[in-house]
Amino acid sequence: MSGSRLGRILVSEAELNARVGELGRAIARDYAGESPILVGVLQGAFLFMADLIRAIPIDLTTDFIGVSSYASGGKPSGQVRLVSDLSMPIEGRQVLIVEDIVDTGLTLSYLKRNLEARHPKRIQTCVLVDKIERRQVEIELDYVGFTIPNVFVVGYGFDYGGLYRNLPYIAELEAA
Ligand code: IMP
Repeated sequence: MSGSRLGRILVSEAELNARVGELGRAIARDYAGESPILVGVLQGAFLFMADLIRAIPIDLTTDFIGVSSYASGGKPSGQVRLVSDLSMPIEGRQVLIVEDIVDTGLTLSYLKRNLEARHPKRIQTCVLVDKIERRQVEIELDYVGFTIPNVFVVGYGFDYGGLYRNLPYIAELEAA
């Protein structure tokens, strides 16, 4: 997609604010009294995570895990690699994985397997964007922000070659 350019806005800043608020309220209701640990998946989910936790008015802790699933340039490599690990054990904890997007599902299913092996009390998933048409492995999602068609998106944490993460909305990236 070299020579690509920003296309139409798929999710505006106002829509993001409203939906992240709704997700936060639902999570707060479901996890009241549980003191969950929210595990943000780097790098893409850091913006979503920052906004989401401010919309969850209950006791919670946060941690981050870094995975690399796309060769740079946006093509799926099919291989998932752990590039930075959690800072704390999660044994016996209620874990909510906070991910930016589920595309083929390979990254999230790898992560779930990896974290399950550490014996948490329970693992759930909160995903901002679901690209359901592209799924290769079945995966259960507990909280979903938006379902989008099979287009490549950038902004609000989503990047192309490391760029565009700082846009306050989600836009389609078009081939020029
Ligand atoms: P999956 O393993 O195919 O589900 O891919 C998940 C990862 O691919 C996400 O964490 C993103 O980093 C990346 N990804 C998938 N689709 C897009 C997109 O449209 N824009 C930016 N990154 C994407």
